[in-house]
Amino acid sequence: MPGELSLKVGRKHAEEVRRAMIRNCVYDRSRKILAEGEAVFIPVLHSPKPEELVGLEGISFDVVNYQLEAIEGHPKDLQETLKGKIPQELSSTIPRSYDLVGDIVILEFLPPELAPYKREIGDALLRLTPSAKTALLKTGKVEGEYRVPQLEVIAGEGKFETIHMEYGVRLKVDLSKAYFSPRLGFERYRVSASVSEGETVVDMFAGVGPFSILIASKTKARVFAIDINPDAVRLLQENIRMNRLQGEVLPACEDVRKAAGRMRDTADHVIMNLPSTSLEFLDTAAEILKKEGGIIHIYMFAPEEPMTCAEKSFRGIADKLFGQYEILTVRVVKAVAPKRWQVALDVRARKK
Ligand SMILES: C[S@@+](CC[C@H](N)C(=O)[O-])C[C@H]1O[C@@H](n2cnc3c(N)ncnc32)[C@H](O)[C@@H]1O
Repeated sequence: MPGELSLKVGRKHAEEVRRAMIRNCVYDRSRKILAEGEAVFIPVLHSPKPEELVGLEGISFDVVNYQLEAIEGHPKDLQETLKGKIPQELSSTIPRSYDLVGDIVILEFLPPELAPYKREIGDALLRLTPSAKTALLKTGKVEGEYRVPQLEVIAGEGKFETIHMEYGVRLKVDLSKAYFSPRLGFERYRVSASVSEGETVVDMFAGVGPFSILIASKTKARVFAIDINPDAVRLLQENIRMNRLQGEVLPACEDVRKAAGRMRDTADHVIMNLPSTSLEFLDTAAEILKKEGGIIHIYMFAPEEPMTCAEKSFRGIADKLFGQYEILTVRVVKAVAPKRWQVALDVRARKK
């Protein structure tokens, strides 16, 4: 019975696990936590996936079916929150997932038949996530050079700026001016964990700095953070000031192709998070990479059989640019549209 799932964890780690479940939208707010002897039962909506358990390594727990007391009047999900507010025949079309960025809740997509009910849906999202002050609806594709989405306020205060917490770092974002997605949180964690002390990183499409800031907060590394969007770089600069960093982040508002000359042969890691056109910049990444080689973390969009497809597209260009290269990881990050995925590749490469 998925509705009755809980995580049974020792008292000592219960708070840490509870926070991780909330952060990853796995926590079931409609049921109460229960402490029984040394064990604590934490209500969850589903059995957590590996990426939802990052940071909990070494903590043991069991996923169990356990009857926990319901919290009166607190709905479990959006469907339940909207009961009686929209026609019954449309309830199966209600989206099941949403994003939480700081205190802003974002709905990625609304089926056209639900458009007349968007205010009710916005109010329901705010009721479901009590920490949220504004509900936004994505109304168009992420487009243009700055990759900023079109968003509409559907409930609440109507703001776009907030502070988002991710793996211990604070990120100021303005969703109307610069790209930010909380769904890449695990990717940022994964990449940051691969950087060692003393290394140089070039974050070619840094945005407000989530990769750069996390890396420099965890490791004494030097990170060049480049973005062409002045609003993104202004926020990135604020984020550098707002976080305690072990390493240093050097921001620049520039087209990365122009900035590359200054960073030639310097990087141990190059991060290429511009999945729509990243392959067009692979020659720039090669220029930036150290002569003895380094690791490229590249993101791409790919259709069906996304891992095979992304690897093939990468090889098509990499064969001409690199003397040697080895694909270390291929990973599907998220679905971005029907039959379209974002894929991550980590590649150890050495230029010709
Ligand atoms: C998909 S966003 C990624 C932002 C960030 N890495 C993150 O994870 O939130 C891509 C970013 O690349 C920037 N960009 C696009 N073309 C660029 C270029 N030629 N040089 C530098 N930055 C560029 C955009 O302004 C945008 O902020």
